[in-house]
Amino acid sequence: MSRRRQIYEGKAKILYEGPEPGTIIQYFKDDATAFNAEKKGTINGKGVINNRISEFVFTRLSHIGIPTHFIRRLNMREQLVRQVEIIPIEVVVRNVAAGSICKRLGLTEGDQLPHTLIEYCYKEDSLGDPLIAEEHIACFGWANNEEMQDIAAMAIRVNDFLCGMFAGIGIRLIDFKLEFGRIYDGDYSRVILADEISPDGCRLWDIETGEKLDKDRFRRDLGGEEEAYQEVARRLGVLQSEDGSPGEVFDLSAHRGKLRGSKSKS
Ligand code: TMP
Repeated sequence: MSRRRQIYEGKAKILYEGPEPGTIIQYFKDDATAFNAEKKGTINGKGVINNRISEFVFTRLSHIGIPTHFIRRLNMREQLVRQVEIIPIEVVVRNVAAGSICKRLGLTEGDQLPHTLIEYCYKEDSLGDPLIAEEHIACFGWANNEEMQDIAAMAIRVNDFLCGMFAGIGIRLIDFKLEFGRIYDGDYSRVILADEISPDGCRLWDIETGEKLDKDRFRRDLGGEEEAYQEVARRLGVLQSEDGSPGEVFDLSAHRGKLRGSKSKS
């Protein structure tokens, strides 16, 4: 069997050439990084869970008409996706103040924002993904106006859908990051949702307790990150074994103290 060709290795995923032209295999690693990879670690089982969660979310988004790169899940850690030309912009959607916007603007974490905010960052690790204005995107030709209108409209639809989906399982969607890519059809191109949607790139708080169920547990050394990711997967109903039978269901009660006991540092 010939070894498949690796196209790219990122912080949380590896991309391999897919079986057909125009396809890519996304492999989800357990590696976790924060602060532009200054902090490195592993969250055991994260890759398996993120593969499942992202499959679940992208499939549902496609059902409401959001075009995505997702084709199908291949195995525990891999999914087949459409090859896209990645638009070098991280699209951050915020409903509640948390993370970098609190530092930048002196906001209090947990405060509801007056309305949903979309922010853009230039996707360039060597610069630490700096915050940019739409003016920069147009000026440097990273995306044209029509593409930006599509991106903003999709980001809002994704946010509305995800807010409802997570509220239904007792989770408050604080903020999240999206990435988009271009696909070409002859002379025409269109923008579709790419990358992943998982607790790595979302802030998810338990509606009742405020417990953080996302990568902030790792970023802020809160502990219990494995349990938090499992809890999100369990509530979404995606923690199943490969044969489709109900998998081991995570017993939150055994870990509640751990999550609760370490939640304060925000
Ligand atoms: P921030 O508050 O650090 O700017 O993050 C906003 C959201 O974007 C948060 O849900 C985490 C996500 N995010 C990523 O997915 N990748 C990144 O590199 C950064 C900085 C944030």
